[in-house]
Amino acid sequence: MSTAAIKPKGARVVPPDAGPETWACHYLSSTVGSKVLVAVTGLLLVGFVVFHMIGNLKLLFGRDDVNAYAHFLKHGLGPLLWIARGGLLAVFVVHLALAFRLQLRASAARPIGYVYQRSAQATPQSRTMLMTGIVVGLFVLFHLAHFTFGWVHSADIGGGRQSDYLHLLDEQGRHDVYSMVVAGFRTPWLSILYIVAQLVLFCHLSHGIQSTIQSLGLKASRFAPVWSGLGYATAATILIGNVAIVLAVWIGLVPPVFPMVK
Ligand code: HEM
Repeated sequence: MSTAAIKPKGARVVPPDAGPETWACHYLSSTVGSKVLVAVTGLLLVGFVVFHMIGNLKLLFGRDDVNAYAHFLKHGLGPLLWIARGGLLAVFVVHLALAFRLQLRASAARPIGYVYQRSAQATPQSRTMLMTGIVVGLFVLFHLAHFTFGWVHSADIGGGRQSDYLHLLDEQGRHDVYSMVVAGFRTPWLSILYIVAQLVLFCHLSHGIQSTIQSLGLKASRFAPVWSGLGYATAATILIGNVAIVLAVWIGLVPPVFPMVK
């Protein structure tokens, strides 16, 4: 019987004369390498979500603040915008693909399944990582259709007229992101959908950040409780910040203005 059959998850043997590319390929296709890459790409995605939330909170400070910020991101960064968008997409695809592959390998390693599904350490979040990840991915697709492409909903521009999101303008002729978000979250079903998505994102991140700490070998350090606390605090801050934006609009703290249209 071959060693691979006895130890299906055993370390792959890299030939001693292998070059750095071969070593990198072996490492990245191993379970340990994949876990580290899922952890690193997950951290990059969390970084994006925090940055995006801080930018969106400008909505609470008024129309000019958030429109100026959105205008700068879209027109002030030149080619950097497309490099950042490409990078974000690549990171998202790698995170998703490797997380799926790890899940498939884990299921293949125990095809019969456990008699007792609940292990002592498994939390509801850890058992539903794949499902919450899929829901977050579907939310992002919906969110792009809603705000980036303006396909989901239109905005009231007064006099009983409606306009699609992408044609809304403010007095300076900038895209009126403020009115677009206000139109969205003054619509109850959209607000509810966003709040539910933020709760699912919290479940995914609160466990995902803990796994990241483990995959990066920080669990053994004496600062493990600090990393763990920081992880929960980050997931909770994202939940509170994003839900605050939705609720502030929904209950009227962020008032609507009638925008101009292109
Ligand atoms: C209440 C919370 C959120 C609000 C108010 C919000 C708002 C927006 C708006 C207005 C845009 C379009 C910007 C524009 O085209 O001018 C946008 C784009 C985007 N949002 Fe969000 N967002 C929220 C939460 C999230 C979350 C939780 C994620 C990820 C999990 C996310 C991911 C994205 C992505 C990937 C884009 C496209 C960025 C690009 O065009 O380069 N958003 N968001």
